[in-house]
Amino acid sequence: MRLGIMTGGGDAPGLNGIIEAATKTLLGMGYEVFGIHDGFEGIFEHRVEELTVQRVSGVHAFAGTILGTSNKCGTSGREAEFLNCYQQLQLDGLIVAGGDGTFQSLSGFNGAIPLIGVPKTIDNDLNGTDVTFGYDTACSVVAEAIDALRTTANAHKRNIFVETMGRTAGWIALGGGLAAYADAILIPEKPFDLEALKKYILEKRAAGRRGLIIAVAEGAHPLGHSPKVAFTIEGSPEASRLGGIAEFLARWCDSVMEEESRHVVLGHLQRAKSPTFADRFLTLAMGEMVGTLVKQAAWGKAVAFKGGEVVQVAIEDFMTAPRLIEPAHPWLQMARSVGIFI
Ligand code: F6P
Repeated sequence: MRLGIMTGGGDAPGLNGIIEAATKTLLGMGYEVFGIHDGFEGIFEHRVEELTVQRVSGVHAFAGTILGTSNKCGTSGREAEFLNCYQQLQLDGLIVAGGDGTFQSLSGFNGAIPLIGVPKTIDNDLNGTDVTFGYDTACSVVAEAIDALRTTANAHKRNIFVETMGRTAGWIALGGGLAAYADAILIPEKPFDLEALKKYILEKRAAGRRGLIIAVAEGAHPLGHSPKVAFTIEGSPEASRLGGIAEFLARWCDSVMEEESRHVVLGHLQRAKSPTFADRFLTLAMGEMVGTLVKQAAWGKAVAFKGGEVVQVAIEDFMTAPRLIEPAHPWLQMARSVGIFI
């Protein structure tokens, strides 16, 4: 039996762990495994390589994906061509590690192509799983950055606005901001009141605080505003790239208060670090579970992490709108309890 493995959308630390764990497991079970290059592009352009134990050994330690990925190429408008190209690869099944863009691009093919899904994104915004791999590593980058930036913020009595990724979801700002006890955390799900933020900063200053760190998700925005779009990528299933809110807030602070502010955009550093223990273990467990699903011919299924363990779910669970932070999420109350503005 010949199986294809593909990584789609933005890369996330742990993709290589999935490739290593799934490939080793499947080869050990006697299957042949073929890596598809650059996401959907590799299917359209017939670019694949046969994977061996030697090729995948040790790759788990690195961010990125040895197969390459692309978030510019979807299947929209090219459905018949996509199916035809897939069939030419003569695969018996396709394992796809992707985020909501990748799975939505595949929603018309579930049934026509034997699929097994693996949820991936640093944004942690996929339905159907409690957590996605890459998220823990991204949050650890944010927490380390905030801890480091606090030193210079304190030295200069400055506010530093730290912009995190996450598109329309605030999971990275919230998780990383909590882990580093940021003074304020601004997320897209809860548009903030600029006057209330100003009051909070001034009160902290009056109480003797020197530096303040504000974690701000790239999709966060003041009440009555929309998220800031930095630029758009033609052809991408999600064309808008958000960004600019941290700089906006730093300049706003300078103009309405006697404060000096700076901003830092953490950007792609959040996707570039060697996976943490949590992400390594999660991808090992998910990659191994892929072998079980293939053996059961459980096409149309996916692996997920729910209630503390790796389980099977329907792949359709990932083919939905992003999973956002709900107003009653306990992490919001946790932030308020320790005095974080949110
Ligand atoms: O979805 C993952 C993500 O890293 C988002 O958090 C971010 O907005 C986007 O991808 C950045 O995309 P690109 O790699 O195209 O700059």
